[in-house]
Amino acid sequence: MRVLITGASGLLGVNLALEAAKDHTVTGQINELFLNGAPFEQVSGDLLKPKAVDTLLDATQPDWVIHCAALADIDACENNPSLAEHLNAELPGTFAKSCKGRAKLVYISTDAVFDGSKDEYFEDDDPNPRSVYAKTKLAGERSVMENNPEAIVARINLFGWSIFGNRSLAEWFFYNLQAGKPVKGFTDVFFCTQLVNDLSAVLMQMLSQNLAGLYHVVGADCVSKYKFACEIACRLGISENMVTPIRVDDFGLKAARSHNLRLNTDKLQKVLHISIPRLSTGLDRFFTQYQQSYPHLLRRMVDNSTVDPNPYRNGGKDGA
Ligand SMILES: NC(=O)c1ccc[n+]([C@@H]2O[C@H](COP(=O)([O-])OP(=O)(O)OC[C@H]3O[C@@H](n4cnc5c(N)ncnc54)[C@H](OP(=O)(O)O)[C@@H]3O)[C@@H](O)[C@H]2O)c1
Repeated sequence: MRVLITGASGLLGVNLALEAAKDHTVTGQINELFLNGAPFEQVSGDLLKPKAVDTLLDATQPDWVIHCAALADIDACENNPSLAEHLNAELPGTFAKSCKGRAKLVYISTDAVFDGSKDEYFEDDDPNPRSVYAKTKLAGERSVMENNPEAIVARINLFGWSIFGNRSLAEWFFYNLQAGKPVKGFTDVFFCTQLVNDLSAVLMQMLSQNLAGLYHVVGADCVSKYKFACEIACRLGISENMVTPIRVDDFGLKAARSHNLRLNTDKLQKVLHISIPRLSTGLDRFFTQYQQSYPHLLRRMVDNSTVDPNPYRNGGKDGA
């Protein structure tokens, strides 16, 4: 299949593009960067420019489009609600209209559409977003579903290695703890996060099975961010005392956070006949990737140093 992935320099986009390129012809749409040695074609440009989406689809003629580009920084959305509206709410609707009858679309949404007051959330529960980010992502979902009912809307949460080493909470805990710096972890914010590489494989499976509609695509286990940090400390051989428990409301973040984002994934697991990997498996793989220099491989895509032209050719494993 010809697969177009937007936001291919981001945490999800780059890992997904690497995963998809093992079996498909991938084009990564990238805002400004050029990724050295990436095993997929790249097209660059600002998706908010007039006619950018149609021009991109005309040029790449994809069978599948996975729209990952977004303003994903929650506090940046609070500071720039107009940009958040354009990128997170309006642009997905443009993709939905332009892809209709032309390419299968996956819109990447978020667990944060819920307010976190329930014990567990199913796909048919009413969302109640608490931040500009979550409100605009929910508006994006609705626009996609209204304009293109054949599209997939995937509510996700993820962790993993990114190009600049600063896009996921796991990287932040890992690098600070590794450097001997104490970190704070919220004891009252629960999430079902999933390793980006496992998430990428599931998204590709959803496309292969031609699913449509809304799915929760999160990890199998729901933990507090404090516990998540402790799991990383433990794997680094560092005392949990380096992780200070703290309540999110005492931290003074600009955007409101939802306390309990336990999303149920039964619908997805039943239709795909899969079991979502456990958090411990994902964290073990995250550490194996580190040992196999996967973060270094990503980083080299934006360094000027000499790079292996294609370390992933022929379906090579992560970091191989
Ligand atoms: N990270 C999470 O914890 C999380 C949780 C739930 C859901 N999600 C969702 O997952 C998706 C991917 O998130 P992520 O963490 O991978 O985000 P990310 O690392 O911030 O990547 C976002 C990507 O969008 C690109 N982009 C932004 N503005 C653009 C524009 N005007 N034109 C073209 N590209 C543009 C960025 O390129 P530049 O950096 O070059 O601008 C970047 O490649 C998003 O839809 C997000 O809402 C993320």
